[in-house]
Amino acid sequence: MANLENIVFLLLVLLTTYPWALAVRQDMLFKNYHIIITNDLPKDTFHLPSPDAPQLFVHCKSGDRDIGPKAMLNGEVYTWDTKINFFRTTLFFCYERWENFLKNGTFDLFKATRDEDRCLEHQDTCFWSVRSDGFYFSNNNQTWRNEYPW
Ligand SMILES: *[C@@H]1O[C@H](CO)[C@@H](O)[C@H](O)[C@H]1NC(C)=O
Ligand SMILES: *[C@@H]1O[C@H](CO)[C@@H](O)[C@H](O)[C@H]1NC(C)=O
Repeated sequence: MANLENIVFLLLVLLTTYPWALAVRQDMLFKNYHIIITNDLPKDTFHLPSPDAPQLFVHCKSGDRDIGPKAMLNGEVYTWDTKINFFRTTLFFCYERWENFLKNGTFDLFKATRDEDRCLEHQDTCFWSVRSDGFYFSNNNQTWRNEYPW
């Protein structure tokens, strides 16, 4: 649906302002990006009400999409796909709460202008690892950097 709108709009732009259209990052509009958030928090049952209680709560949204809430056990993943809109304003923000220590925050875990290039490295995927000291980003699922300490 959004993709069809992108294509129609792109064709209109090509027909009306051809030289300008060449400067637009058209290639990004057709990519399907994957975002994978893994709960890599340390196993800790001491602070939880019961040993099988989920330790991480995640809820990601954009302006027009709600990926839904999820209570995650250690090692579980939260994932969705997205395309980038024509104006490259696509933004998904996530509320996350570490139940054990009541840490919480809202972080931008997919942002078109920041991620459109760097997430092409490995299968068009943005990897996030939730750890005790923050949210680590990787574009290859191997080297990680803490981008959102908490
Ligand atoms: C969120 O974290 C703050 C401290 O940064 C804490 O005071 C608050 O109780 C937490 N809220 C929830 C819902 O866990
Ligand atoms: C990322 O790496 C982990 C640990 O090596 C592996 O279990 C997982 O399948 C990988 N995910 C992807 C999408 O490659």
